[in-house]
Amino acid sequence: MAVIYTRWDYSDAIYWIDIDGRRELLIADPEIACSQPIPLSSRPRPPILPRTVDYREETGIYYMQDIYAGPGLAGIPRGTIKKLRVVTIDFRAAGIGSNESYGPAGDSLSSTPVSIGNGCWDPKTILGDAVLHDDGSACFEVPSKTPVYFQALDASGYAVQTMRSWSTLQPGEAVSCVGCHESKNTAPLAGNVPTLAMAHGPQTLAPFHGSPRGFSFAQEIQPILDTHCIRCHSNSTPDPSAPVRQDSDKAAFSLLGRTVPDFQAKRRWSEAYLALTESTPKLDGGAYQGNPNGRWIRWISAQSEPNMLPPYHAGASRSPLMQFLDAGHEGVALNLEEKEKIAAWIDLLVPFCGNYTEGHLWNEDEFRLYEHFVKKRRRMQIIEQQNIRELIAQ
Ligand code: HEC
Ligand code: HEC
Repeated sequence: MAVIYTRWDYSDAIYWIDIDGRRELLIADPEIACSQPIPLSSRPRPPILPRTVDYREETGIYYMQDIYAGPGLAGIPRGTIKKLRVVTIDFRAAGIGSNESYGPAGDSLSSTPVSIGNGCWDPKTILGDAVLHDDGSACFEVPSKTPVYFQALDASGYAVQTMRSWSTLQPGEAVSCVGCHESKNTAPLAGNVPTLAMAHGPQTLAPFHGSPRGFSFAQEIQPILDTHCIRCHSNSTPDPSAPVRQDSDKAAFSLLGRTVPDFQAKRRWSEAYLALTESTPKLDGGAYQGNPNGRWIRWISAQSEPNMLPPYHAGASRSPLMQFLDAGHEGVALNLEEKEKIAAWIDLLVPFCGNYTEGHLWNEDEFRLYEHFVKKRRRMQIIEQQNIRELIAQ
């Protein structure tokens, strides 16, 4: 048996090794690499896989056979899931400021944080909702080269199960899954094709109250608080994260949009954001930590158990705030759009920033550093687009 063995002084070498480990050097050359030897004897031609990518396209297609198949929705009656939310995440271009998350998955540092510690690590954009057909199937188009993840929503718009990693399609690619979530080596379910999704063909996503945008607390949630809450909730206590019951004739704890600096995270959070997430500073200068299992809001912590969580584990459905508002706290009545936005904010794991620069507390050098990497990213995109144009022209 010939094996490849890499040595520090040669790029690599090929040895003949017998079953007892005796070996004999066949070839080694410091100049000419031999890490990819090709057998010269004739052999059957391997099958050629068809191309799955079409660079002329700018979208890809997901097909799901039956969302109820698999452990992700174990015990959830058919008909519970009404929509599939499709969310994209944006990756930081550079690290400026940081905070930490803690939990069963260990401790971790999040740089350029877009939420308090234990909240989400990336800005989230809801691309929209996919139609989920009565048989649990779905087929929808998403922008290609865009990392996406899925959330199964119930009739209240609450996430029943959420995907915590992501999937990215290349242009023109079509990818299927069985449900939420089989093992990836599982074959499709037998006996129930064609599905309704196959009959209807790929759908475009229905927008979430306007065109896709980074979900920002200041843009989506604060206006709701300004309209309905701050006439009573305006008491900026020195520690806004510790709401204490006041005399009813005094203003209640602050739900104002007034900013609070966090010199560790290098962000300006808001009083309302810190109060609702029950955040407390970890250091003198900030590094605010949220309480994912708080009295009002319960989200899936960034460092929760990494294995598949049971359905309805946490999120808007488990957050007493939603029931409290439904019950008409102090006569406040929120409309459906407002409730859906608050629920989405919790199910997206309480993002504060809709992009990496929002609410920054960066000095000029830090801002320039960030811009440098954003520009570098754009330059690479232009080179890639040029390469693709040339490839298509061939
Ligand atoms: C709302 C439930 C749910 C739906 C629907 C769902 N997923 Fe997932 N997905 C999960 C969960 C939970 C995991 C495992 C934990 C994690 O990594 O997020 C996962 C993991 C993944 C992963 C990464 C892990 C791996 O095995 O490679 C990929 C890729 C993936 N899903 C693709 C898909 C595709 C394709 C579809 C169908 C179009 C789909 N998912 C539908 C919940 C879902
Ligand atoms: C008419 C006045 C009023 C309005 C309007 C109002 N609240 Fe309150 N709220 C109160 C008072 C008073 C308390 C108790 C004060 C305290 O605990 O500091 C309270 C308590 C709360 C609590 C905590 C309750 C507790 O026992 O700890 C939450 C959460 C809350 N309000 C959220 C909201 C939200 C969100 C809105 C707007 C959608 C809102 N409130 C609108 C007066 C109001």
